[in-house]
Amino acid sequence: MRIGILTGGGDCPGLNAVIRGIVKSAPNSVEIIGLMHGWKGMVNCEYMTLTDNDVEGIHILGGTILGTARTNPFKSEEMRVKMEENIKKLGLDAIIGIGGDDTLSVTAKLASMGYKVIGVPKTIDNDVSNTDYTFGYHTAVNVGADAIDRLHSTAKSHGRVIFVELMGREAGWITIEAGLAAGAHLILIPEYPMTLQEITGFVEKRMQNYGYMIVAIAEGFKPTELENVVGDLSQIDAFGHIKLGGIAHYLSDVVGERTGYDTRSVVLGHLLRGGTPTAFDRTLGTRYGVHAMELALKGDFGRMVALKGSEIVSIPIEYGIATKKLVPYEYYKLAQIFFG
Ligand code: F6P
Repeated sequence: MRIGILTGGGDCPGLNAVIRGIVKSAPNSVEIIGLMHGWKGMVNCEYMTLTDNDVEGIHILGGTILGTARTNPFKSEEMRVKMEENIKKLGLDAIIGIGGDDTLSVTAKLASMGYKVIGVPKTIDNDVSNTDYTFGYHTAVNVGADAIDRLHSTAKSHGRVIFVELMGREAGWITIEAGLAAGAHLILIPEYPMTLQEITGFVEKRMQNYGYMIVAIAEGFKPTELENVVGDLSQIDAFGHIKLGGIAHYLSDVVGERTGYDTRSVVLGHLLRGGTPTAFDRTLGTRYGVHAMELALKGDFGRMVALKGSEIVSIPIEYGIATKKLVPYEYYKLAQIFFG
């Protein structure tokens, strides 16, 4: 049996643990072909054969040894044809797609075309449905919380308002959990918009009472008055997502101007995704990889591995991508207790 594996979309701590889990748990009868740079490698036929030696000790490394890209092989007919030709040429009996909703949606589409596929949910954003966690998320929250912890002393020393921006396109998971853990005084996430007046009101009250403030903001948060999210609207990727970024700078300027307080902004961005995964993400990635191989050996295709409680299970891939897993109101309400 020959299985092709690939990592697509934004990189994420724990990807190498999944790759190692798959390769190390494969019996001798199974050959693992690693496609380079996600679906791009499938379209361009760039690959490497993965052996036990290639994956030795890689679970502690950030990023992905296979490289990644945001290539959509269904973007053009030419790419789709090339991908299918290469699946045939490489003699792939099955494909394991490790990625977020974009990569998983390509994996699901291949399943509907009759290919034998398995999905592994990855994203620091933690917005894939029907899994308790995606790997990479835990690391991102820890890095975010550590950074916010550090901002307290400098904000307090100077009597400033610091706006800190974290990744999270449609889901505010990283921001709410890092913000809650590190005691941010206001948490702004895409799921629960607020007006500029409300934000300014929080800042004034907090500054009068305590003299400094940390506001944690997800990059996809949009004040109610704005028509669009803040970012480079002209840069759209192969899956139709615009390049986000800048909401912290925007709020720092606007709120600073309206209140007269000394404001600053910090963008954590890709720092949240880089570097070594936490022990949680290493073990979750490893378990996902091993379970994906088990599914392949059983011939149980069209499935996505998922975490339910402390157990690894599998669900139909479409269940993972049908909707985005957003922060529920109950959780946001809990976080609100600590605003101000
Ligand atoms: O992988 C998801 C994500 O982390 C989003 O939160 C963010 O908007 C995006 O990746 C940024 O990706 P890029 O690496 O393309 O700038």
